[in-house]
Formats: sequence, structure tokens, C-alpha cells
Amino acid sequence: MKHKTLKISYSVSESNSDLSEPDQFLMKEALKSAQNAYAPYSGFSVGAAIKLSSGKIVTGNNQENAAYPSGLCAERVALFSASALYPNDSVETIAITIKTKHKIIEPVAPCGACRQVIAEYENRQNKKIRIIFSGETGKSYMVEGIQNLLPITFNARNMNNR
Ligand code: THU
Repeated sequence: MKHKTLKISYSVSESNSDLSEPDQFLMKEALKSAQNAYAPYSGFSVGAAIKLSSGKIVTGNNQENAAYPSGLCAERVALFSASALYPNDSVETIAITIKTKHKIIEPVAPCGACRQVIAEYENRQNKKIRIIFSGETGKSYMVEGIQNLLPITFNARNMNNR
């Protein structure tokens, strides 16, 4: 058996004000969206803002439910919405941030299921998606492509009928 190692890479900005103007703008849109989250059960409001290749911005926030698993994360609300509204546009960047009572300083990364959905759209558009995420203050992380968050991904190529 051979042992192999994978490297992932990510960029760190000390604060959102160190990001480029367009990325700062997207982060602000994500924060605005987080403020409209429906998160009465967790009190953890998440916002995502997507920049499409056309320049259009699509946002989403987490939508919870008394039947907990029926809720959905902000990233998937935004991605599904972008795909439903603009199926021929591609996703350039998704920015993710949060709003809670706790002033969380650690960057909050997308959950596993959202990573899988980002991988699906990357595969569909055959172009990497930039992912930027932060806590409420402090550092933000940026990755160029889902391989940095979800290496050895399951995708359509793993299905022998694709
Ligand atoms: N949540 C997101 O919206 N995105 C993530 O990537 C992680 C978790 C939401 C789901 C739930 O409404 C709340 O945060 C607490 O898990």
C-alpha cells in the first residue's frame, strides 16, 4: 500500500477590509442576507452572496424548520436560487458570513453538504468557484476551488452512466 498526501491551499486576510473591493462588497451582501435569515432554533444566522459571471449577485440565508432536517443552509439556498434563476450563468465567487450573539471570530466554513453542492456546480460549469468565508469579525479565508475544501470528491464522473 502506498501512502499519499494531498495539499490544500487557502489565503488568509486579517480582516474584511484587506479584501479586494469586489470581495468586500460581496461580503457585505452576505452579511445583509444573514440579517434576514430565519434561524429561530439555532440563533445562528448565516448569509451567502454569489457573484455570477454576468455580474449578477444572488444571495441566500439559512432557513430553519421546527422539523430540524427540513431546514436548509444559506449556501445551498443561494446556490439553488442562482441555478434556478440563471441556469446559464456560472458562479464565480461565493462569500459566506454569519451573525450571532457571540461575536465569533473564527472563519465559519461551509458544511459538508454545502461543499458537495458547490462541487456539483463547479463540475457543471467546468470552472472553479472561489469561496470566501469569515466569522463576524477577524480573519477571512479564501480558497480557489472546492478541491481545497473537499478533496477526493464524489461527482458525476464516478457514476458509470455519466
Ligand atoms: N448553517 C449554514 O447555513 N451554513 C453552513 O455551512 C453551516 C450551518 C446553518 C444551518 C443551521 O440553520 C444553522 O446554521 C446552525 O447549524
